[in-house]
Amino acid sequence: MKVPLYEPWITKNDKNSILTALKSPHLTDGPVLRKFESTFSKLVGVDFSIGVSNGTEALHLSLVSLGIGKGDEVIVPDMTFVATSNAVLLSGATPILADIDLSLNISPESIENKITKKTKAIIPVHFAGYSCNMTKIMKIARQHNLHVIEDCAHSLGAFFDKKHVGTFGDTGCFSFYPTKNITTIEGGIIITNSKKTAKKIEMLRNHGLTKTLLQRNHNPKPWDYDVMTPGYNFRLDEIRATLGLSQLLRFKKMTMMRKLAARYYNNKLKNIKGIDIVNYENENNHVYHLYIIRIKKEFGVSRDMVHKKLFQKEIHTTVHYKPLHLFSCFKNYLYKNKEFPHSMDAYGECLSLPLFPTITRKQQDYVIDNILKLQK
Ligand SMILES: Cc1ncc(COP(=O)(O)O)c(C=O)c1O
Repeated sequence: MKVPLYEPWITKNDKNSILTALKSPHLTDGPVLRKFESTFSKLVGVDFSIGVSNGTEALHLSLVSLGIGKGDEVIVPDMTFVATSNAVLLSGATPILADIDLSLNISPESIENKITKKTKAIIPVHFAGYSCNMTKIMKIARQHNLHVIEDCAHSLGAFFDKKHVGTFGDTGCFSFYPTKNITTIEGGIIITNSKKTAKKIEMLRNHGLTKTLLQRNHNPKPWDYDVMTPGYNFRLDEIRATLGLSQLLRFKKMTMMRKLAARYYNNKLKNIKGIDIVNYENENNHVYHLYIIRIKKEFGVSRDMVHKKLFQKEIHTTVHYKPLHLFSCFKNYLYKNKEFPHSMDAYGECLSLPLFPTITRKQQDYVIDNILKLQK
């Protein structure tokens, strides 16, 4: 039996909606994108949603729109996908890495230790679909007058204190890459409650133009727009927007299927010596973008060996992620492993198991049986 790490779920309705969108006269930055954006706003409870070409550009545009750039420092977790720190570098600012805690989220204590006079913002990542402690992070941000840009690439549907993630900071940034909880293939969205920030982002995603394609089409003089600042082309096209909209319509079901599959793993793995389930005690607050276990010494077989043996059985697992400070692009920052004890421990022990809405109980049993067979 083959068990992939993830499997995108594209239904007949998704495909039909794409065919319909192909007939639209706009094809990009049109009415379907507006509908996707307003539906998204309603779902997460926010005033503005701005669709963009991917999650990395959502982070990048957030930073630029908040005036963050050269000479500024932005605190990001050491344990995240490199897009988080790349976005900071793209803005011209410097990413400063902070350690995580046992939840795999950025540690508030580590954030405080990294704040300098140059710090302008924090980017907490709601890792694997489990929210950071936003009470603590927002308190630190208020005390030091820092912007907060939430990286919600993993966490559509996740809440903290009954509020959707992404609604605490200045902006929340989502990715719809194929592995994510909904997909537009490539795509992303920025959410914010600030009209000023939303307007800036809308302009920046569209070459800096003061009018969108639709506004120009409805104007007797379509050429009558201004360019306030050089912008980018980070628009989201109608095909991707329609796929996103179609997926949003069954998003609650998809999340429930992820949660049920995670609960199944939890029940089978919770009492296994040497296996710790990450955020097991927070099962209800988790949207399980990733299902992560820690293979401890007591299991008797190393994490790398578990990965290898499962691969031989056609079960795909991986490690999320290699800590950022280990990459060559951070060589000049002279970080030491001992600055990131939790991140390094996680890197040595964590393993992401296959999880996606349509995973079958048969596939999960096959994964579980093969893990248990390895135990010494
Ligand atoms: C934590 C995190 N942030 C940002 C991104 C960037 O998203 P995208 O691939 O849509 O640019 C990703 C995923 O790919 C991610 O996992």
